[in-house]
Amino acid sequence: MARVVSIKAPAKINLFLQVLGRREDGYHQISSLMQMVGLYDDLTFEESSHKVSLRVAGLPIVGESPNLIVVAARLLQNQVEAARGKAASISLTKRIPVSAGLGGGSSNAAATLIGLNRLWSLGLSLDQLSLLGARIGSDVPFFLHGPTAWVGGRGEIVAPDAPLPEYFVVLVNTGAAVSTAWAYQQFSRSDRLTNGDQPISMNDLKIFKFSTTEILLRPRNDLEEVTFSAFPSLVRIKRRLCDLGGKGVLMSGSGPTVFALFEEFPSAKQAASALSCEGQTWVIKSLRRRPSVRLRKKSLSVEGHLA
Ligand code: C5P
Repeated sequence: MARVVSIKAPAKINLFLQVLGRREDGYHQISSLMQMVGLYDDLTFEESSHKVSLRVAGLPIVGESPNLIVVAARLLQNQVEAARGKAASISLTKRIPVSAGLGGGSSNAAATLIGLNRLWSLGLSLDQLSLLGARIGSDVPFFLHGPTAWVGGRGEIVAPDAPLPEYFVVLVNTGAAVSTAWAYQQFSRSDRLTNGDQPISMNDLKIFKFSTTEILLRPRNDLEEVTFSAFPSLVRIKRRLCDLGGKGVLMSGSGPTVFALFEEFPSAKQAASALSCEGQTWVIKSLRRRPSVRLRKKSLSVEGHLA
């Protein structure tokens, strides 16, 4: 019997994203309210006697090399004594579009840390996994803590917040790929920084906290202007979602995905249909808890025994 761990890796949206300053290491200080939403990649981690392998189905992954799942597995093996020399067959079914501002790659990395921690019985806490996660990518710690959290620093300071009331979330993705590095670079060049180079602490983060109601009334993403000027159709998409009654309408992360929140499913569905000419659309829910981890035992197939 082989042990198999299954995890759903959710996408995120940024309900608020303020860029506060550029750091000496080239990253930017941010203050952001991040929210997990119910669009998922599926990951399974199966015991294996060989090495760490990755099989990908669903959407093709382009531009991310090496894959963040592999990076996360290698990091565990290099940093955690008990993980050294361990093996796993990892399967990924990709549904979250890549370079879309939805954090799919980071969510996959976080799911890998959680999944292999369980499969290999490493016993690491979420805080320990977060420290490792921050070395993989700025958004990874959020995915270890969600579903709703304020993040600071370059993304590695995570302050979980009360879960958002459940909303129907409409996502519109034109299919353009936006590089996060490019968006931040353009933003810096445009001299729009609000707070010089000062690093912010957890206390500062609290000062920048606004209530969810305020956030939904005055949605803000400092990276919108940069991405919108490169992809003008996003301006039209945003306006249309507002006209159709969406709340908190905003671009997520560095884009290009634009989202809107709705209290009722029919109006969300109507907005998604109206926007389907602009690209791919989804109607999903905001999550009120992190997806759970499933562990099962699978009987080995004949080929499995022979391999
Ligand atoms: O951390 P991650 O690898 O996801 O970031 C990708 C790129 O985005 C970084 O190399 C950096 O150029 C930019 N970035 C930034 N400030 C952040 C997060 C990312 O400048 N807070």
